[in-house]
Amino acid sequence: MPVAVIVLAAGQGTRMNSDLPKVLHPLASAPLLAHALAAARALDPERTILVTGHGGEAVDEVARGIDPEIRVVHQEEQLGTGHAVRQAEAELAGFEGDVVVLYADTPLVRAETLAAMLEARAGGAAVVVLGFEAADPGGYGRLVVADGALEAIVEAKDATPGERAIRLCNSGLMAADAQTLVALLAEVTNDNAKGEYYLTDVVALARARGLDARAITCDEAETLGVNSRADLAAAEAAFQARARVDALANGTTLIDPATVWFALDTHVGRDVTIGPNVFFGPEVTVESGATILGFSHLAGCHISRGASVGPFARLRPGAEIAEDVHIGNFVEVKNAIVEEGAKANHLTYIGDARIGAGANIGAGTITCNYDGVFKHRTEIGAHAFIGSNSALVAPVRIGERALIGAGSVITQDVPADALAVARGKQEVKPGLGGRLMDGLRALKKKATN
Ligand code: UD1
Ligand code: CA
Repeated sequence: MPVAVIVLAAGQGTRMNSDLPKVLHPLASAPLLAHALAAARALDPERTILVTGHGGEAVDEVARGIDPEIRVVHQEEQLGTGHAVRQAEAELAGFEGDVVVLYADTPLVRAETLAAMLEARAGGAAVVVLGFEAADPGGYGRLVVADGALEAIVEAKDATPGERAIRLCNSGLMAADAQTLVALLAEVTNDNAKGEYYLTDVVALARARGLDARAITCDEAETLGVNSRADLAAAEAAFQARARVDALANGTTLIDPATVWFALDTHVGRDVTIGPNVFFGPEVTVESGATILGFSHLAGCHISRGASVGPFARLRPGAEIAEDVHIGNFVEVKNAIVEEGAKANHLTYIGDARIGAGANIGAGTITCNYDGVFKHRTEIGAHAFIGSNSALVAPVRIGERALIGAGSVITQDVPADALAVARGKQEVKPGLGGRLMDGLRALKKKATN
């Protein structure tokens, strides 16, 4: 059955107390809304429709960055979840299949759970609602179940005391046959405690037509909704806890799991060892058998098999670390390819560069890539040896197997196999050091007498 996903993201998010739209706040180095979209993507939807309202344009742009094919519709006034879903109707035209409604502020729902909802749909229920046993049912909608069938969803504000005692609550997520959903939504009114068009009313309306509705359940943790910064912090903790468990299960060694921070899109291969206090920003891939030592900060980079990074390394976007490369402590790499077996072990900045295979970059080497206005490239050939504390002033090329003397400031290209030394020449004056010191000591004695 083809699937269309509708993601609701029009709410204001007042309690975030922020200028940034709620669904753009980062969770695991990705905008909140990217999490729901990632879960949706696992269903291989035929179309994805995002309903925006507050912060519309900024949200549109980010959403299109995540999924260029996303269809964005605008809900001018937030008149309720049912009204929000109706805004997507035009984009559902011609679609036959299942619709899954997600909330952009509910980031922890597992793809497996969404798949289970669709299974229940395939089992014949016209409407499937995702519920959970709430520790504190509070303001959640209550699921009224009789003989296994979902009879109705009653919003807390409209519930009788008996209904309020129900602990099985509505996560807000729903799957339904597209045509049926559109037909039922047309019957929803705003005659209720909040004066809103409730999506939840489609359950009772379906039952009234003799259609089957079902609730399936998940763990409450999956339905955590982000309404405040405290919720966001709780969601971050929950995401990281899950990511660490997944990493361990997938064959990654985490020496101190609680101190490793993953992004939504981090890919780590088998037999990777990650030391304590490692932070993954967006778009990092670590291939099997690589080692990331403690206190490293990685973003937008690719680390190949057998490479060793850190401790205290910083890999920034565009860092491509080939097999068996060593990037050591206090080394920063940005927009640079470090080819197989090359080493930069200490105190180095490599930016806008290519480091050839087997090259050795001495301690304190700096690629001077920025002239204050433009960025320039440094090319270092295979098996070149850069002496410690060298400044390579880009644009500059160092040939294969070339040797750069320590402390050099290299401003001109160096051909293959050459030696280049660019520093003040050492002078040695026999006896002069001792004579100077004796003179100074004599001066001091005179002054204190
Ligand atoms: C909703 C459910 C409730 C459920 C709860 C779970 C209804 C009527 N109630 O209540 O049963 O227990 O979620 O968290 O559906 N939104 C729009 N446009 C609107 C209104 C809402 O896009 O006009 C979006 C919000 O941005 C949010 C989601 O829909 O992502 C839920 O809206 P919210 O107002 O938080 O619903 P609740 O009252 O919490
Ligand atoms: Ca809510």
